[in-house]
Amino acid sequence: MSPEPKRKPLISGNWKMHHNHFEALQVVQKLSYLLRTEDADVVDVSVHPPFTDIRTVQTAIETDKMDIILGAQHCHFEEKGAFTGEVSPAMLAKLNVAYVIAGHSERREVFGETDEMVNKKVRAILKCEMTPILCVGESLEEREAGGTEEKVARQVRAGLAKVSAEQVAGLVIAYEPIWAIGTGRTPTVEQVAEVHTALRNALRQRFGGQAETVQLLYGGSVKPENARQLMHAADVDGALVGGASLKAADFLAIAVACG
Ligand code: PGA
Repeated sequence: MSPEPKRKPLISGNWKMHHNHFEALQVVQKLSYLLRTEDADVVDVSVHPPFTDIRTVQTAIETDKMDIILGAQHCHFEEKGAFTGEVSPAMLAKLNVAYVIAGHSERREVFGETDEMVNKKVRAILKCEMTPILCVGESLEEREAGGTEEKVARQVRAGLAKVSAEQVAGLVIAYEPIWAIGTGRTPTVEQVAEVHTALRNALRQRFGGQAETVQLLYGGSVKPENARQLMHAADVDGALVGGASLKAADFLAIAVACG
């Protein structure tokens, strides 16, 4: 087997419904101040603020030429139309958003997003030349019943339906066990490695050699204290971080641990 290709780690901060645009500006400025060029050389760092903050954060990143990549947490799959409250991928692309999270378990569970909707969203994000971060993960019941690998492989197949091998190049998948999100509980390094191997195999079956270019992030209670250990599990290319991304110093510590 050929040696594992080197993928630059990506650390993504999912701010969820936290930080108004003033607070967001402070956090991103502090993060940029703390992030040294040598850190940014070895790890990509993205922030995913709420919609109301995106323009402010975009302006700060571009004006100060920060080594920070702009992301979003969600979008609709249609280009435009009568969808009260929604934001289209094209609107995000216009703000130079690079990464959009799709299929986060909170969107699936709280807002009823199905695999089919997630797939439409993934394709709409790709169409607008942004990169989806497709989230997959099992519940505690599913893990205890031994169904983890089957569940995440199914979510990947469904989420990437009608996506070509060419489009999948450079795409990001985040493995986030639902029971680890916001709970302080994390899987063991062996459990993370098992799931990431299963994900990589599912990708290889579907996309052949292009599967090697897909980045696999781990997410769920990543903290400065456990980041180094989790990030060095086999086939982990970075982290999707919720709570610990809200403070610049904590998020930076995670990014440094991953580099
Ligand atoms: P957490 O959230 O780091 O607060 O567990 C992760 C996520 O939901 O992406």
